[in-house]
Parts: sequence; structure tokens; C-alpha cells
Amino acid sequence: MIAAAGARLVRLLPPETAHTVTIRMLSRGLGVPAQAPELPVSTRVVMSRSGLRLCSPVGLAAGFDKNCEVPAAMARFGFGFVECGTVTPRAQEGNPRPRLFRLTEDRAVINRMGFNNEGLEPFAARLASFSRPVPIGANVGANKDSEDRIADYVTGIEAVAPYADYITINISSPNTPGLRGLQDRASLTALLARCGAADRQGKPVFLKVAPDLDEEAVADICSVLGADGSWLSGLIISNTTLARPASLRSEEKSEAGGLSGAPLFHPSTEVLRQFARRLEGGFDLIGAGGIASGRDAYVKVRAGASAVQLYSMLVYEGPGLAARIAWELSRCLAEDGFSALGEAVGKDL
Ligand code: FNR
Repeated sequence: MIAAAGARLVRLLPPETAHTVTIRMLSRGLGVPAQAPELPVSTRVVMSRSGLRLCSPVGLAAGFDKNCEVPAAMARFGFGFVECGTVTPRAQEGNPRPRLFRLTEDRAVINRMGFNNEGLEPFAARLASFSRPVPIGANVGANKDSEDRIADYVTGIEAVAPYADYITINISSPNTPGLRGLQDRASLTALLARCGAADRQGKPVFLKVAPDLDEEAVADICSVLGADGSWLSGLIISNTTLARPASLRSEEKSEAGGLSGAPLFHPSTEVLRQFARRLEGGFDLIGAGGIASGRDAYVKVRAGASAVQLYSMLVYEGPGLAARIAWELSRCLAEDGFSALGEAVGKDL
């Protein structure tokens, strides 16, 4: 209750200020529940390839806790895993403000943050210091002015590997010019060769992709994964979109940046489905994009995801959303006669 009221108050502030205040409060323990909520047994999952054991398949997506300050606090709200970052080797300011916009009428967000973060050193030190009631992932990226972006990913992987429960290679932010080019066949081949040789200390590694991929691009990525990505555990599908659906009504709809929240649900689920069809269970898939309810999470599961992540809807629904989605998802499973989440994964393919 207190957390929900706090979330409503914070929403009265400009978006980035609201976010900064929220992180400060949480890092001081303010508004953090004394213990995590009870979660349904049927939604527990062990991801087959990465081996990640999740008490809930509902995770916090990257971007909320860029500097790894509050993963333990977020676990107390009922997230089954928390992904921190994106972190780049060196600290960077990101883009000029304003760079974060609420599209309230559309239940959406546009951001062009541009990997603002404090850099790997403080990130890794904090990551090392947390006890972990749930798996904590470290999402790594490249500095904007880097001359060898792939080297930045290798540096990131090696710095976080001793402490992270899993690592995400983020090549899909639309806010670092040229970054998404790493999804192209030749660049992805080079990226996977060099990152595959990095010392990742046996930790599972995921690749996070964009939703703005046509069938051919999806096919290309899958073929590169088959040839050079056998060491990867899976994919996170997806990051924010550069598309602007005609249905958007909010004034801020023309702001530059990545769009997330409700309008991203269908396109990101469609790309998830395309990957799932091609990869046929060979990789763990984490679905992200516009999840606002247990029903939304269930659709992603049936489209091939064995876990999901969310961020934008927290802005509108508050942090109680994570546990609520897990319970709603358990009801969706029960209605269709599934006793465990694993039974429903990919059922719509
Ligand atoms: C993000 N996202 C993101 N992703 C990532 O890999 N690294 C990052 O640093 C960020 N930063 C970021 C900032 C903000 C303000 C938002 C809203 C989003 C993308 C996020 O992790 C997720 O993939 C998408 O937002 C889709 O999920 P939702 O937000 O629709 O639930």
C-alpha cells in the first residue's frame, strides 16, 4: 500500500527526477517491504540451457537500475530476477536532458538516455557486495566514443563475470548511434567470436536484440547463433522500438528514442515468436516488451519465453506489479490445465 502510494506521488515529478528519487529512496531502504511476497509454486522455473533457477519468471528489465544500486530491494517486491545495467567500461553522461518521456495516454515510455552510467568499476564493486535472494544479471554495453566496441563487451563480461549470476550483451539500444549494427551478420559473427573467447567464468550469457527486425534479419541472427553462438545461453527479446505505431495519442510521441510499454507488446511478441520458431528450444528465451498483466506474460510464455522481464509498466502500476503478474500467470496456467510453467512454454508455436 505504502509503496503504491509512493509510486503515485513520485509520478507527479518529471520522469527522470522521479526515477532518481526512487533509486535514492530504495537504496536507503525507504518503501522496501520487510520481506518478499509469497509467490505461486506453479510459476517457478529452471531455465534449461542457462540453468537459472527462478522463484518467479517475472524479472526486472535492464535500464531501471543502471548502476546496480538496488537489486536486493527490487527482489523484495517479488521480482524473480533483476538485471542491472547497461554498464559501459567507462562512466558516461548519456544524452542531454530531457531524455525520458511518459506517454501516459498510451501507457508507454520513450527514452533516449544513451547509456548514462557510472562505469564498470563501481558497478562490479556493488554487484560483489549484494547477497542474492534472486539471480542478478549484469547487462553490458559499449561506450559511445569507443573505437573498438566489441572490446568494450569483452571488458564488461570479464569485469562482471565473477559476481553476476548471468550476463547480457546488449547490442540493441537505439540510443547509441550504430550500436544496432552489431546485429548484422558479419558484425555479430565477430562479436560472438571475441565475446565467446572472453573469460566468463562459466556464467550464462544472453544476447539482447531489438524488436525492429524483419524475417530475414531474424533468420540471419539465428544462423549466426547456430554457427558461432553455441556458447550463448539465450536471447532477450526485446529492447525498445524505433517504430511509432499510428495508434499513439500522447503529445510526446514524436520524441526521438526507443519506445516501450503497451505499444511494444505485440511487435516484440511477434519477433519472440519468430525466434522461437527458428531456434526450436535450442536457446533460453526471455520475453520483454509491454508486459502489464499475467495474461501478457502468459502470451509471451506460449510464444516461447521461459521467463519475462518488464520495466515501463512499473511507471504506471507501481512495484507491486511483479508479484501480481506472477499470481495472474499462475491462474492462466491452471485454467489451461498446466501444473508448471515449463509445460506451457512455446505452446502456441
Ligand atoms: C530501457 N531499456 C534498456 N535496455 C537495456 O538493455 N539497457 C538499458 O540501459 C536500458 N535502458 C532503458 C531505460 C528506460 C527508461 C527504459 C524504459 C527502457 C529497455 C528495457 O530493458 C526493455 O527491454 C524495454 O523497455 C521493453 O520492456 P517494457 O519496458 O516495455 O516492459
